[in-house]
Formats: sequence, structure tokens, C-alpha cells
Amino acid sequence: MPNKNSLRVLSGIQPSGSLHLGNYFGMMSRMIKYQSQNELFCFIANYHALTTLPDSKSLSSNTFNAACDFLALGLDSEKSTFWVQSDVPEVAELTWILSSQVGVGLMDRATSYKDKISQGLKPNMGLYSYPILMAADILLFDTEIVPVGKDQKQHLEMARDIAIKFNNSYDDTLIIPEPDIDEGTKLIPGIDGRKMSKSYNNTIPIFDSEKNIRKKIMRIVTDTADIDEPKDKDTPLFQLYCLFLDSNGKQDLSERYDGKGLRYGDIKQEFFETMMDYFRPYREKRDALSSNPEKVYEILEHGAKKAKHVACEVLERVRLSAGVNYRS
Ligand code: TRP
Repeated sequence: MPNKNSLRVLSGIQPSGSLHLGNYFGMMSRMIKYQSQNELFCFIANYHALTTLPDSKSLSSNTFNAACDFLALGLDSEKSTFWVQSDVPEVAELTWILSSQVGVGLMDRATSYKDKISQGLKPNMGLYSYPILMAADILLFDTEIVPVGKDQKQHLEMARDIAIKFNNSYDDTLIIPEPDIDEGTKLIPGIDGRKMSKSYNNTIPIFDSEKNIRKKIMRIVTDTADIDEPKDKDTPLFQLYCLFLDSNGKQDLSERYDGKGLRYGDIKQEFFETMMDYFRPYREKRDALSSNPEKVYEILEHGAKKAKHVACEVLERVRLSAGVNYRS
């Protein structure tokens, strides 16, 4: 059991396709750290994904796959509370109650909505009120800390504004969450040297076939330095390989980059083998989970039950404060 003095940390992740090294060394490693030190609540945000992924087959398979990915990579469903958003539909009720507190002007200022529209997405009401659903996700669990990337900073400010407004309109009912903005984690480069991101199509996936992973690694951009020239270390291949090396390993690699006779093709092959060795146990666990969906459903059901327990308590408080519960 988490100790009573630990903070409640909550995070939601959209099920958006296969996890890559950028996710693993960024978000995932933070989660695991939170899991060991705090009370972690973590869910797969399939209601959020619904606003931009109307294809039902992809939504359901992405949701299942995301669950397998997280469980395989070390999300511990006993230590933490891990569930699928739609398994605790109380969040939709809270979204509605909060919606009545939110001025349209606040939503109009949401930059992520504007970005999505400018990328050509057809605006729907779900996309428009996305920040209110996100506020409900956070507030429904008395969350104290929300670790988010910079892109989610505004959403978190909105969640705080909404909670403060609710508390001012009614009694002090909701916990005001604090953001933990991820400035520190280093940028993980993609195979083209830009930030690793699905939208740049430059990722190295973790759970793809060995063949595809190798293909991606072989495509990492390198320069045309002569074999006997010292090589540039401020480059994606060097940085990516280093993620898997201890300080001695890094030192060795660095010396090889400084010396003569280094072939990028050899380094890529070594990096591939190192990466596969590192992820082998996770890949095996992932296979075991995905070939036993009943087991995964059971784990998620258990998580939903734990999450629902907290959600119902908080929602009851909200209903009372707002006068929705007319029997009191
Ligand atoms: N909007 C977040 C994203 O796209 C996902 C998310 C949904 C979330 N609800 C949340 C993150 C609550 C933190 C807390 O990354």
C-alpha cells in the first residue's frame, strides 16, 4: 500500500498507436518513478481519443494494445490504480456538472483545439469540450499532482480554473491540482534527428517485429565522415545508443567515435542488438498479455473497481455541493 503521506499523482494517456523509445524514456520512466514513490492513478484516455479517432475498430484495438504496452513495461496494477477511462463513466457526469461552470470564453482560448482545427480536423463538440473532460479526469480522483508535457500545460491551468470556480460557486469541494511540467527529461531524438514523435514518422517502436525495428535503426541519419575521421557525437545514433549504456559503455562508445575505423553500420547493428536484449523480457511479457486478453480484461476490471471507489465518493460530494442530489 502507498504510504499515507505520499501524494496522489494522476495521468491519462491517449491510446494512439505503438509506443516508441521517446515514450519509454520520457513519459514511461517518469510513471515508474511515480509508482514507486507516490500513489499513482493512471488511465487510458479512450473518451479523449474518441474526439479524433472515430473509427471504432482502431479505437478499441488501440485501447487494448495500450493496456498491454503499459502493463508489459512495468505499470503495476497492484501498486497503482490502472484503468480504462470509459470503465469509470462517472467521469462523464462530472464533465457535465463542470460544463455548467465553464464560460464559453475559456474554451475559446484553448490552443490545442485551434491547432487541431487548423490541421484540418472537423470541429465537434467533444473536441471543443476536451479540456472539461480532462478537468473531470483530474478532479474526480482528488488528484494532487499531474505530470504533463508542455503541450498539456494550458489544459492543466484550465482544470485548476474550473476547480477554483466550482469551489467559489459552491463549498470547497474539489482539490486544486498542481502541475508537474516535464522540463527535465532529455529530448529523445528520432531517426531523422528531430524530436522522436509519431507525427514526424521518425520513431523506433518498442513492440514492433524485430525486422521492422532493425529497419528503422538502419535508417537513422548519419553524416558522411570518412571511416578514419573522428565522428560527431551530437547525433541521433550516438544519443540513442547511449540511452542503453552505463557510464563505462558510454565511455567506450565515445572513445570509438573519437578514434579511427568506426563504421556507422556496425554501430547500428550493435545498437539494434542492445535494444533487443534490453526489451526482450518486456516483449515476452507483452506477447503473453496480448495472447491472453481475458487476463488483461481482468486486470483492467480490477483497476476500474479501485478507481470507481474513489470516483463515487468525490462525485457524491460534488452532487451534494451542486444540489444535484436533491434528497439531502
Ligand atoms: N490530454 C492528454 C494528452 O493528450 C491526455 C489526458 C486526458 C490527460 N486526461 C488527462 C493527462 C488527465 C493528464 C491528466 O496527452
